[in-house]
Amino acid sequence: MLEIKDVAFGGKAVGRLEDGRVCFSPDALPGERVQVTVTRETKRFVEAQLDRVLEASPRRVKPPCPYYGACGGCSYQHAAYDYQVELKTKQVGDVLGRLGGIENPNVLEGVPSPLPYGYRNRITVHRHGGRIGFHRRDGKGLVDIEACLLASDEVNKRLAELRRERFHEGARVLREHASRMGFHQTNDGVGALLQDAVSEACGSGGCLIDAYCGDGFFAHRLAKKFQRVIGLEWNERSIAQARSVAHANESYIEGDVAARLAEVLEEADGAATTVILDPPSQGLDVQVADLLRAYPVAKIVYVSCNPATLARDLKSLAAVYELGSATPFDMFPQTAEVEVLAILRRRF
Ligand SMILES: C[S@@+](CC[C@H](N)C(=O)[O-])C[C@H]1O[C@@H](n2cnc3c(N)ncnc32)[C@H](O)[C@@H]1O
Repeated sequence: MLEIKDVAFGGKAVGRLEDGRVCFSPDALPGERVQVTVTRETKRFVEAQLDRVLEASPRRVKPPCPYYGACGGCSYQHAAYDYQVELKTKQVGDVLGRLGGIENPNVLEGVPSPLPYGYRNRITVHRHGGRIGFHRRDGKGLVDIEACLLASDEVNKRLAELRRERFHEGARVLREHASRMGFHQTNDGVGALLQDAVSEACGSGGCLIDAYCGDGFFAHRLAKKFQRVIGLEWNERSIAQARSVAHANESYIEGDVAARLAEVLEEADGAATTVILDPPSQGLDVQVADLLRAYPVAKIVYVSCNPATLARDLKSLAAVYELGSATPFDMFPQTAEVEVLAILRRRF
């Protein structure tokens, strides 16, 4: 019998075995008493699979998806939706404290998705061995999927069409908005809330540098509020899209942020500059953090899809910037992922 104390970032419930070792198990919730089978052991911790819930949390719900548990996509369908947001919000604080070295980080209330299901405007499916679907949670091949409850109706329609087509083995991206080829936020509802929040966090006046700008999702919206807006992005198509609608004060540089940021920061008046960072899940390249310390700017608005790399980057920027606040955005309900908007100010 195991008593669950917490759910760690990544979605695994945490309890302690009688011998003192920490035990991680999926599908359980804080306060529950569960029966588990150990699947992997080390000296310090064990991993286990959930066999039975002996005493259920009042916030446990019945997962609506027939593939839940087998499919590797979702981790939280067994938790009420508002509870998922609470759990992720606590995880963001824990990770910023533990990996970021920030004492009592100011984590604001998590922002839920307007749609807890049916929110994905794109999915990537795989075909292998006669199956079309997603990777299994246990890593042993694919789960054949008729429809995904996270995907929008349009995307599920594309999946049904694909299942009637012959397509070669491999991965296929199915998009609701077929014209969007570069990066675009996956959950339109949360994307819009995030865009509003970034816009408010950036304020107005001076120069805005949007690093990892995609097609200018944040930069273009802010063009009227800043004298000058500069976007940096290495995807050619995204840059072309950004340039096609840019106002006169917006410019977009195609290239690696690590290679092109120096020239932009050297020219800018740091005291009147705001930087947006929205990197992929690996976070910032070392050179990018070095440059932001070497050429301090007034404010950094960091949009992260990985709290662990965000925490690492905040630690590396900490000599010059302090965290004002971090707000979790639930871009991917039912999954272990969480997006975070962190606002950093120059210390001196
Ligand atoms: C998380 S997306 C954000 C895009 C945009 N901010 C948005 O909200 O639509 C990250 C973007 O960074 C770009 N990217 C990733 N690594 C990069 C690098 N080293 N230099 C330039 N762009 C990069 C990707 O092509 C992608 O468009």
